[in-house]
Amino acid sequence: MPGSTGEPERTAIGLYLSGSNLSEFANYLVSCYGMGLFILHNFFKAVSAKLCKKKKIDSYTSFCYVIAVLNKLFGLFSKDIGIDLGTANTLVYVRGKGIVINEPSIVAINNKTGTILAIGEEARKMVGRTPGYIVVVRPLVAGVVSDFEVTEQMLKYFIDKVHQESFSLLPRPRVVIGVPSGVTEVEKRAVEDAAYNAGAREVYLIEEPMAAAVGARLPVQEAAANVIIDIGGGSTEVAVISMGGVVASRSLRIAGNKFNEDIIRYLREERNLLIGEATAESVKIRLGSAYPLGEELSGEIRGRDLVTGLPREIVITSEEIRRAISRSVRSILTEIKATIEETPPELIADLLSRSVYLSGGGSLLRGMDEIISHEIKLPVKIVDDPLTSVARGCGFVLEHIDKLKEVLLVTSKEAYL
Ligand SMILES: Nc1ncnc2c1ncn2[C@@H]1O[C@H](COP(=O)(O)OP(=O)(O)OP(=O)(O)O)[C@@H](O)[C@H]1O
Ligand SMILES: [Mg+2]
Repeated sequence: MPGSTGEPERTAIGLYLSGSNLSEFANYLVSCYGMGLFILHNFFKAVSAKLCKKKKIDSYTSFCYVIAVLNKLFGLFSKDIGIDLGTANTLVYVRGKGIVINEPSIVAINNKTGTILAIGEEARKMVGRTPGYIVVVRPLVAGVVSDFEVTEQMLKYFIDKVHQESFSLLPRPRVVIGVPSGVTEVEKRAVEDAAYNAGAREVYLIEEPMAAAVGARLPVQEAAANVIIDIGGGSTEVAVISMGGVVASRSLRIAGNKFNEDIIRYLREERNLLIGEATAESVKIRLGSAYPLGEELSGEIRGRDLVTGLPREIVITSEEIRRAISRSVRSILTEIKATIEETPPELIADLLSRSVYLSGGGSLLRGMDEIISHEIKLPVKIVDDPLTSVARGCGFVLEHIDKLKEVLLVTSKEAYL
């Protein structure tokens, strides 16, 4: 019976067996399920003892059995969540509700007091407008935790926000989090620990391209190639998925944010105009393209003239923006080709009859699908709602965890057990 859920052994029992004494184990239950439910735990402990006697099974098996029932019971009430912890945006999917939080991964900190002033949308509004002692930070770089404490605070804020309107004894959530493919054990551990410290009861990790593919409802469990390219803010992930696993993948730290940096550098060097990050982002969305447009665009842009030091407005064209970001786009194309070259021949053959899928905010850049298709000579499609596909994928896995467990990464707890 305990083996049928697989969950208790990985958590409570794992803790129990790894040397903690009974009181630590009880603490664990209290912290997970709330004080009121501790009474229930005692009740189950008594049941477990009875089971031991009646069925003549050892105490470990009866404990597993009871915990399996307990976890299933609490699972019915907990607000399990899927999180896309992105470099640019954090999205939270709540089981049975859909996406409830979609905010920038930005935190404003008061350096004098060390306190957090704002998180998410509120912090974004402060970018570039704060006095010296307030810093606005992005705790993730290329999808990887670069500031552990701030990431933890940010996760805690979002998890609490989901639980805000709930009954306080509600069990803490099980959480599925997307991480870039090819993250190191240390990086995985950092995300897991941040989520546990932020209040998760169970943490499962999934590679972002896998989550994006599941979110787009690609048949990831079939023995056939599913190619997904996730172009986010901090990283581009290219993955070939078959039979619930990643067969070939590459990840590079060039994506939407790098395009913004390219635009800032181009304007500074070629047009003597200094602009900030927010302006670069809006120019990219207004005029940016990866492939020549049927009708090229142009528009005004305001910044500081580097010669006079005064404000100036210039007109810029989509061709210029394309030139500014062309090197970065080329790097992405090279990586996509390299991943396809690494794909086993049997799977390569499948690609001729299937599309390559694009997800992430970077896929919304005009002509991105066209230039990729032109380069790899295969049809390319943008998934529906590409900015939310990873979060929707995390949520879908959460809702079908028994069937989709194989698409998850091995977490440090499982490796330990
Ligand atoms: N219409 C658009 N045109 C071009 N770029 C866009 C558009 N909309 C959003 N983006 C870009 O998409 C990026 C954010 O995408 P997304 O939310 O998928 O990234 P993320 O998941 O936070 O980052 P990562 O996956 O790298 O950790 C930003 O760089 C943003 O500028
Ligand atoms: Mg992403």
